[in-house]
Amino acid sequence: EKGGYEHFMLKEIHEQPRAVRDTIGAYVKDGKIDLSETGLTDEKLQEIERIYIVACGSAYHVGMVGKYVIEELADIPVEVDLASEFRYRNPKLVKNSLVVIVSQSGETADSLAALRLAKERKIPVLGIVNVVGSSIARESDYILYTYAGPEISVATTKAYSTQLIAMYLLAIQAAKVKDVISEERYAALIEELGTLPEKIQKTLDDKERIQWFASKYANAKDVFFIGRGIDYAISMEGSLKMKEISYIHSEAYAAGELKHGTISLIEDGILVVGVATQAALFEKTISNMVEVKSRGAYLMGLTTYGNYNIEDTADFAVYVPQTESFFATSLAIVPLQLMGYYVSVAKGLDVDKPRNLAKSVTVE
Ligand code: F6R
Repeated sequence: EKGGYEHFMLKEIHEQPRAVRDTIGAYVKDGKIDLSETGLTDEKLQEIERIYIVACGSAYHVGMVGKYVIEELADIPVEVDLASEFRYRNPKLVKNSLVVIVSQSGETADSLAALRLAKERKIPVLGIVNVVGSSIARESDYILYTYAGPEISVATTKAYSTQLIAMYLLAIQAAKVKDVISEERYAALIEELGTLPEKIQKTLDDKERIQWFASKYANAKDVFFIGRGIDYAISMEGSLKMKEISYIHSEAYAAGELKHGTISLIEDGILVVGVATQAALFEKTISNMVEVKSRGAYLMGLTTYGNYNIEDTADFAVYVPQTESFFATSLAIVPLQLMGYYVSVAKGLDVDKPRNLAKSVTVE
């Protein structure tokens, strides 16, 4: 059932090119995005003036990426909330808005409660859900299914990757119907989307290097992940993968925030992972990497092919293929998933069933 892999998590990491291809294939036809199956027609999408993305855990991290992508591409203001916060804080929901609930299982108690709150306020809800017929799928007004297939490992990988695709689709289509991008740009984005499965496969082919590095650092006590913009969102997910399955304390920090407190924790030998896939922020993040390195950190740098000068600062560099800056998350997350996985394996832990965690959190 594990298809020759040692753990479900490794199998599911390797299923990502297929999962992403299937999710794109379900909504892209003849070079155009078609969301009509979700119920969210172009006419309805055009009227949306604000989006609230609400979710828990990794799905919340997808929401953080969604905020950057939707605001930048479609020019719609987006707020992202943790479901457990949103449901208890009397959120101000403006008219002509859309609430987007992201959930692999479709059964997460807090996310379901957030959905019900939105509906009580008469705000339409789009569910981005993996499990067909789940509670969130049934109660959403519009439903965009991801096609990850069943996910067994507690730590999400392939479902997260398909949720990112859902965000890109929503952002690109909203940009089109609101007429804020040109036909050429629309076509180019969709074409680039289609290259992601192959590029994700390329990052997987590099896994031995990550395995080597992960086993070397399996005894680390603390790890910090830093990045800016979308790279900060990637850092959050990389850090969660690390802590949940390897039990190593890790934190994600917006790189520019380090000097407001956290940098006092940096000392000799602390592992810092600097994520720098965004060209516009590259030099800024590098300067933060220089700061931690000069305080003794051991530095892993994660960027795209071509940015080889990261090696002037990083002790160990990992490269992912170049793509649209918005889509870099889909590639950069793969080495970070592999890092968490191989550290957990090196420590002999129960990778697929980490302690204290459940696959589907149906109690708040
Ligand atoms: C982390 C992880 C969790 C889930 C969270 C939400 O690897 O899997 O953080 O992302 O519990 O679950 P769903 O998506 O089922 O609502």
